[in-house]
Amino acid sequence: MSTVQISPSILNADLGDLRTTLRQIATADTAHIDVMDNHFVPNLTFGAPVVKFIQQYSPIPLDVHLMIEDPDRWAPAYAELGAAAVTFHLEAATSPLSVARTLRSLGASAGIALKPATPVETVIDLLEYFDRVLVMTVEPGFGGQSYIEAGTTQKLQRLAARAEQQGLHDLVLQVDGGVNAHTAAIAVSAGATSLVAGSSVFSADDAAQAIASLRAVAASAR
Ligand code: DX5
Ligand code: ZN
Repeated sequence: MSTVQISPSILNADLGDLRTTLRQIATADTAHIDVMDNHFVPNLTFGAPVVKFIQQYSPIPLDVHLMIEDPDRWAPAYAELGAAAVTFHLEAATSPLSVARTLRSLGASAGIALKPATPVETVIDLLEYFDRVLVMTVEPGFGGQSYIEAGTTQKLQRLAARAEQQGLHDLVLQVDGGVNAHTAAIAVSAGATSLVAGSSVFSADDAAQAIASLRAVAASAR
């Protein structure tokens, strides 16, 4: 992976005007779509019927992050509606490898996400079955929290080293939560190749400018 991908999260953007929200981030690589079910996390956003419209309106591919229980049952629908990447939580899945296989067979990239307290050992031997690992850098559920540095750098370094060792050069290492120009540099230096940023992009006066700054920071940290 040569350049770091920027994936703005629309969670804290204007969800009543999705078309405008999506247009604001058209210069990003993907749009990060946080699906929450009020069970896996204490917050509720939207499900496949809404994501289907987001997919239709989005000028860039969708990077769907499922913070839901029973991804074994619900994840395939997001690949079917055309999401480029579908990431589900290891903590919630019964048969993660079988979910990954299904997502790939439907043409999506398969991602596995880890909450901050979930050790990297839980996925370290499974990397070849996934296209991305999402390292949560806040407790999932809400935007606008601070980046948890403790443990994150070691997780990313460990994942990057193992991916390198196995020749998995396309494995995406994504960080999600509290990413801004300052924490982006820390994450990229540790091995992150994809940055999810919600508040830092949408609270900026100009979202495109915030995306460009993240790109610049990531390029010099690499
Ligand atoms: C948190 C979500 C994140 C979040 C990122 O549960 O998965 O994608 O919206 O937002 P910020 O960048 O504000 O932490
Ligand atoms: Zn997310």
